[in-house]
Amino acid sequence: MDKKIFIVDDEPAILKLITHWVKNEWEYSVRTFTNGTELLENIYEDPDLILLDIMLPDLSGTDLLKQIKRMNKHLPVIMLSAQGNIDVALECIREGAYDYFPKPVDKNRLHPAIQNAIKNYDLQRKVDELNTDLQHEYSFDNIVSADKKMQDVFKMVTKVLNNDITVLINGESGTGKELIARAVHYNGTRKNEPFVVVNSASIPRELLESELFGHERGAFTGAHQKKIGKFELANGGTIFLDEIGDMEMSLQAKILRVIQQKEFERVGGNETIKTDVRIISATNVDLKEAVANRDFREDLYYRLSSFPILIPPLRERRGDIVILINHFLAEFNKKMNKGINHVSKAALKLLYDYDWPGNVRELENTIERCMILSEEDNIDVEVLPPQILETDENAGYEAVGQLFTEGAPIVPFEKLKAEAIKHALKVTNGNIVDASKKLNVGRATLYRLMEKYDIKTRRN
Ligand SMILES: Nc1ncnc2c1ncn2[C@@H]1O[C@H](COP(=O)(O)OP(=O)(O)OP(=O)(O)O)[C@@H](O)[C@H]1O
Ligand SMILES: [Mg+2]
Repeated sequence: MDKKIFIVDDEPAILKLITHWVKNEWEYSVRTFTNGTELLENIYEDPDLILLDIMLPDLSGTDLLKQIKRMNKHLPVIMLSAQGNIDVALECIREGAYDYFPKPVDKNRLHPAIQNAIKNYDLQRKVDELNTDLQHEYSFDNIVSADKKMQDVFKMVTKVLNNDITVLINGESGTGKELIARAVHYNGTRKNEPFVVVNSASIPRELLESELFGHERGAFTGAHQKKIGKFELANGGTIFLDEIGDMEMSLQAKILRVIQQKEFERVGGNETIKTDVRIISATNVDLKEAVANRDFREDLYYRLSSFPILIPPLRERRGDIVILINHFLAEFNKKMNKGINHVSKAALKLLYDYDWPGNVRELENTIERCMILSEEDNIDVEVLPPQILETDENAGYEAVGQLFTEGAPIVPFEKLKAEAIKHALKVTNGNIVDASKKLNVGRATLYRLMEKYDIKTRRN
């Protein structure tokens, strides 16, 4: 999509010159204005950036800037000021201008400033989009999120704090299921009683029963001592049955009995033990489907899922990526005694675009790893793990490496460029816009090169 820049200046010569750079050389779409009123009248067109002269005939640049910022806080505005107006320019920066350039404007500095500002704005818009209707009404210690769907999760959590309803938390691995379970316990009426975790997936099947219910001495070979199970330990508090989908059928029946009758026996024991526990369970599989496949008891499913909470995967709440990065930076800075407070734009973009199959846990581990590897006070692309670098856009870099294995002939640059263009046009079916994006050059440049190398698209 073409980015649109508004240029506002009352000096025709300057307006013409800057328009020439922005439009013809840098290939943005442009609208020009010679006064502030006209600009304000057209601002609903939603430009991606404004280049704004400080001295305009009708409105002062500072006032205009304030008005723009009131309408759209994040829209980047770069001020252009005559020499001698530096104080005003600085005031503009304080009011939220992205940057300022004294005239005559340094073209080589202006272009990257525009690119960066637009990139920033893009990212900001993505974050904003995800965070509309943001409410901070519901929040829990250590759980950070500004996403609308997570706010709904928090809202659900508040509803179960003061009762004992059985909660089932569903979500992909690493989405924060245990964190939510703990929030339910530690903010609820049982907070001063134990919170006990049992992970059905990590305990061998034959040991799980005694882990849950305990055993009497001599109950089975190796049971030298009586053991108190997790249900007994959790008495008065909460038991968190993690990965409940992995529990085998015979144990499922016993769990059902605890829920219904609030009692159980230790393995190899006759004594019936009464228990008062709240049950929270979690799973990353679709229990309903497991029921359909007869891997999970239907009656237990209904008992467990009287209050289901679904935690969305991180890729469905990308706004949280940025927020969580900051959270983990702060956390690990404390732990590692470091001062890494910044992630470069390029690295942030990659982190933002990555799909995070391991969700928040993967993000947390990634930030930790980056902070260990980084020798600067920021996180830049080179410390990112390979799977994050391997996005579509970067795929080409790897491929290029494979062309030049040992013994490969040396290819002249021009030839490489021509071949890269031909290949891109073939892959994109002659689509110039797509091809220029993939090749990372402007469209005009692509046309120029095609002419130079005498390359024709299938379309012309
Ligand atoms: N919203 C969040 N804010 C802060 N930290 C989070 C958030 N969500 C998850 N985490 C962190 O991510 C890690 C994984 O969370 P948690 O163990 O609760 O996920 P899980 O869904 O139980 O994962 P798994 O399926 O792998 O057991 C933890 O270190 C947790 O503190
Ligand atoms: Mg877990």
